[in-house]
Parts: sequence; C-alpha cells; structure tokens
Amino acid sequence: MSSTGKVYFIGAGPGDLELLTVKGKRLIESANVIIYSDSLINPAVEGLARNGAAIHRSSALTLEEMVDIMVKATEDGKTVARLHTGDPSLFSAVHEQRTLLEEKGIEYEIVPGVSSAFAAAASLKAELTLPGISQTVILSRQEGRTPAPPAEKLMGLASHGATLVLFLSTPYLSTVVKELVEGGYPTDTPVAIVARASWPEEKMVRGTLADIERLAAAANLDNPSIVLVGRALDPKATTTAKTSRSRLYDGGFGHGRRDVRRQERS
Ligand SMILES: C[S@@+](CC[C@H](N)C(=O)[O-])C[C@H]1O[C@@H](n2cnc3c(N)ncnc32)[C@H](O)[C@@H]1O
Repeated sequence: MSSTGKVYFIGAGPGDLELLTVKGKRLIESANVIIYSDSLINPAVEGLARNGAAIHRSSALTLEEMVDIMVKATEDGKTVARLHTGDPSLFSAVHEQRTLLEEKGIEYEIVPGVSSAFAAAASLKAELTLPGISQTVILSRQEGRTPAPPAEKLMGLASHGATLVLFLSTPYLSTVVKELVEGGYPTDTPVAIVARASWPEEKMVRGTLADIERLAAAANLDNPSIVLVGRALDPKATTTAKTSRSRLYDGGFGHGRRDVRRQERS
C-alpha cells in the first residue's frame, strides 16, 4: 500500500519549550501522531498537540514498533511528528529510522533544533570559538556501549587542544579526564558541566581537569548533562582577553558592508 502521509523528524531542543523552532512547533501542533523521546524531552510538549492526536513515548517502543506506527499513520495519509532532543543530527538514532522509512518508500523531512551543546554554551555565557584561543569545536563522546572509531578516541582528539563538547560522557568522567590529560590538555584546562541545560532545574559546575571530578561529585549533578572542555570556557578569557576580540567589529578591519554604510552616513 502506498502512503500519502509524511514523517517529520523534529529537533525539539534541549528542554525549554521556548527553544523549539517556530517550524518545529507548528508541525507538532498540526501532527496527527506524535512520538517523542520522553527521557530527554520536556513532557509539556504534549500540551502542544491538537485534540485527538495520538501521543507515544518512545521509551516504551522498540525501533520496529515505532516505525510500524509511522507506516500505519502515513498509509492513512496522516502526519507524524517524531521528536528528538536537541538537534536530530547529533547522537539521535534518526539514521536507523529513516533507513527503514526509505525502504518502505515513506516520505520524511528533518527539521533542525537547538542542540544541548549550544544551550549549555549559552548558559555558560561562553563563545566556543574565541579568536586567539580556539577556532575549532569538536563534538564527540566518551565511548560507552557504542565504540568510537580508533582515530576518534578522546586521547587523540585531545592533541588538537580545541574546544571539546562531550555528549553522553558524564558517567565516564574519570576516564574522560585521564584520556584528555594523557592526550595533551594541561591539567589547568577549564572544564564545565551543565546538567539539564535550559530546564528550570539546570545546574552547572566549573573547574579544571585537575578538580572537575571532585566538583561534579559534590554537586550531585542530574542527568542529562554535557561536558565542555577548553580555554574558551575560561570566563576571564571570554571577558577580558584582548586576543579574544573578533576582527569582525575591529575598527581597523574593513569589510564591504560596513564601508558602504559608512559612505552612506558621510
Ligand atoms: C542521545 S544524546 C542527544 C543529543 C541531542 N541530539 C542534542 O543535540 O542535544 C543525549 C545527550 O545529550 C546531552 N543532553 C541532552 N539534553 C541535555 C540538556 N538539556 N542538558 C545537558 N545535556 C543534555 C547529554 O549529554 C545526553 O547524555
């Protein structure tokens, strides 16, 4: 049977419903079927559903059951909003769902969202790419049940000294610290952990590779939490260092648009 409905994989953001995109919210409000990752997404999202929408929490479903719901709904011409926390392109298991949908010829679209990486950076008031300090952000994780390819072990990534954002890694914090120090980050490298970024219960801890394990244990952080490492996380670096100024707004750094506006004003 051919299907006429459509599945939308929607990045539902880090928790605060106001961090849903306008498009994501509109699609949730109009969907016939909603499937959401209830372990990480704010359950208040259910309040956006239209009357009569079928709502499923993904923690109770296997992959096959979830895809089955999508198939039946789209065969009936319905739309399905499949919500993933943060942005669907990062550690979201969208790939395995969309592969099965493609096999069955079901139309789908992916709608981006605000990743917890960026919600955490905002809570820390941090710019992850500070000129003179770091111009690279590595998004990764400590390997757990999912192994990392050999070239992506944390020890190897540490050799870049870049800003590092680690998902799914707080339970392995002592291994993370050990690998990063052995890989080349000095022990005084700033580290921040943000738990439940953007939720009312948000908590954060700042320290260095030398003391973050002790500070995190003392703070009794909730899940989910995300670990950010690197000199760009130093609150002093972000506010006072002359080297951390962007050239974009430097008076001596001309660029087309500003030159035109200056000419317009003169
Ligand atoms: C399965 S991954 C999903 C990541 C998601 N796609 C994103 O872009 O944020 C789950 C991990 O994301 C991080 N995470 C998700 N929501 C978070 C939040 N509100 N605060 C802190 N970390 C969060 C945690 O590291 C958690 O273990």
